Parts: sequence; structure tokens; C-alpha cells
Amino acid sequence: PAPLGLGHAVLCARPVVGREPFFVHLADDLIDAEVPCLKQMADVYALRQSSVLGVQSVPREETHRYGIVATNEQDGRMRRVTSMVEKPKPEAAPSTLAVVGRYILTPAIFGHLERTQRGAGGEIQLTDGIAALLKDEEVYAYNFEGRRYDCGSKLGYLQATVQFALNH
Ligand code: G1P
Repeated sequence: PAPLGLGHAVLCARPVVGREPFFVHLADDLIDAEVPCLKQMADVYALRQSSVLGVQSVPREETHRYGIVATNEQDGRMRRVTSMVEKPKPEAAPSTLAVVGRYILTPAIFGHLERTQRGAGGEIQLTDGIAALLKDEEVYAYNFEGRRYDCGSKLGYLQATVQFALNH
């Protein structure tokens, strides 16, 4: 069978997280930024007291590799999420704004993850849990400042290694 997936992994953290907001940080997305990405997102949380997803725009032909959000109108780097879908085909993607491995979630996500069935790729998707959450609570997408490296791909890992070496 397919692996249980990211949604299940997050649900496993429930006993230690308890009833507090928390970060999810996917380590294969490496972000180089002047102000750390999680700090940028924590500032948005402080303002909105709602879940925040770190997003960047990607080429349309790559939407099938990401959770993609649909949003309403922009307020600076922030938008309210109206729907979210995991790994849509380019022609079905509601936008080209991709979630790139940084999330601040309210503990209400756990109740939704408990009820989330296997989705894209046969896995329990965090994206599907968030899609359910945003029917109850506001969820924001934050287009953070910084360069992101996809260290889950060989090329991205190589680019990150060379760039960080040059920076050093
Ligand atoms: C996961 C998430 C996806 C997100 C991506 C970011 O996918 O399921 O929504 O956009 O991380 O890297 P994965 O890369 O594990 O396939």
C-alpha cells in the first residue's frame, strides 16, 4: 500500500502539540532569506491568529508537484485562501501559487486530519485536511520573501549546495 502520508505524520504530533498553534517545516524545502521564513510567517500569525501557509508561484507545468491554493484578492504578500488542492494537473490548477513546505496551523487541523481519507497518490494528505479546515476558519497564504531550493530533487540539492558554499 501507499505510505500513510504527510497528513498522517502531522496527526502523529498531536499528543505533543496539544491545543496550540504549531509549525510544520518540511526539511527538503530549503529557504534562504534575510528574515527567516518562519519568522515572517509568525508575524502574520500574530496579526491574524489564523493558519498561515508559505507560498511561492511556480511555473504552471509544475503544479502537479505541489499543494496549490486558490485565493481572494491580495493584501501585500498576504491573501486569504478560498480552496486548496493537492498536486493538480496544470490545466486543473486553480492558480500557480504553491505551498512550499512551511505551515503554521491551528490545532483545529487535528480533528480534520482524523477524518481525512487517502487522497492524491493514495496518501492521507495534509492539503485535504487544510481544505476541510478552511471551511471553519480563515487560512492565509503568505508569499514569503526568500529563495527556495527544492532539495527533494537532485538538481535543487546541487544548486543549494553550490549557492550556500558561495555565500560562505
Ligand atoms: C508535499 C505536500 C505538498 C507541498 C510540497 C512542498 O508534497 O504534500 O502539498 O506543496 O510538499 O514541497 P511532497 O513534496 O512531499 O510530494
